[in-house]
Amino acid sequence: MRILMVGFGVVGQSFAELIMNEAKKLDHDYGLRPRIVGVVDKHGAVVVPDGIDIPKLLESKRISGTMKGEGDWEYHEGVSALDVISDLDCEVMIETTPTELSKGEPGLSHVRAALGAGRHVICTNKGPLAIAMPALMELAHHNDVIFKFSGTVGGGTPVLDFAKKCLEGSRIKSISAILNGTSNYILSKMASEGKPMKDALAEAQKLGYAEADPTYDIGGFDTACKLVITSNYVLGTSLSIKDVNITGITGVTSEDIQRAAQKGNVIKLIGRVGSGARVSPEEIPLTHPLNVSGTFNAILFETDSAGDITLVGKGAGGKETASSVLRDLIEIRRAFAR
Ligand SMILES: NC(=O)c1ccc[n+]([C@@H]2O[C@H](COP(=O)([O-])OP(=O)(O)OC[C@H]3O[C@@H](n4cnc5c(N)ncnc54)[C@H](OP(=O)(O)O)[C@@H]3O)[C@@H](O)[C@H]2O)c1
Repeated sequence: MRILMVGFGVVGQSFAELIMNEAKKLDHDYGLRPRIVGVVDKHGAVVVPDGIDIPKLLESKRISGTMKGEGDWEYHEGVSALDVISDLDCEVMIETTPTELSKGEPGLSHVRAALGAGRHVICTNKGPLAIAMPALMELAHHNDVIFKFSGTVGGGTPVLDFAKKCLEGSRIKSISAILNGTSNYILSKMASEGKPMKDALAEAQKLGYAEADPTYDIGGFDTACKLVITSNYVLGTSLSIKDVNITGITGVTSEDIQRAAQKGNVIKLIGRVGSGARVSPEEIPLTHPLNVSGTFNAILFETDSAGDITLVGKGAGGKETASSVLRDLIEIRRAFAR
């Protein structure tokens, strides 16, 4: 299984480390011998058709921030992912460039090019899916390749395939979920320690849970992307982020949180899809299954025959998200073997 990695940051490097550490088990249990034959980041590319030495690759990136340095490979400064995608012989592209929501780029072009060239694609970048998921699914189908994106929702928690595969035979009537760890951390801190939003946000930023510009998280956009992906994948809708009515948590005050607490409730940022799709702060009882604290995610599937089912897990993290990329790779391997 020859892999091209486009993006080599937190998730990409965690994935490389994971397949290096689990090499024996992957071969023994799944007959999977992944080889990274190309890596592209913002600065340039490395291509080694026999497989890149992963420890040296990680060391180069750690020392210089680029892939130049530790390996005896040729480093192609300034070469773009699109150049490599069209030229390199490989079976799978793993796309982990940063999420961008106005046009879905650069990920959307990478995914389109790879699917069009007949490569299987694993994507943790929500941008391409939030903008053009139905078209990308169609493109994958047309080219007879597999397009997987488990890491886009729930980090390592297997939200998408749980709903798709384990609930077969049940009709899912609605989905409601807490899908953004940053917002949940802030709301949890406001509730448990009486902190105002700006202090809870500053703390989340200090701990690395929130970006310097937190709009994407606390504005509800991250939750909306994940809702779109889940709804399209599980319920078969054709939503894009423009179809979601989005209200973030910036208007939630300490007084709102106290008033909710007096009624035995908490305020959470919840994404809902059933009749329509929306993201907004909602009051739910303390005993509600979605009442998870800190950076946890929770997703509740309301089904006709199996009742309500809730999954809870860590919604992000390099290692956790890399584990979902590996699950996707194993699935592609299985499909190959048939
Ligand atoms: N981290 C998580 O816990 C997590 C969880 C779920 C989903 N995700 C999603 O997964 C994706 C990757 O996350 P991350 O945390 O690994 O991000 P990251 O650490 O910022 O890494 C992004 C990588 O993309 C590269 N890149 C940027 N523009 C590029 C371009 N035009 N062509 C090729 N490479 C480019 C960067 O290059 P340089 O190294 O040269 O800067 C970097 O290696 C994001 O879309 C994120 O939303 C992340």
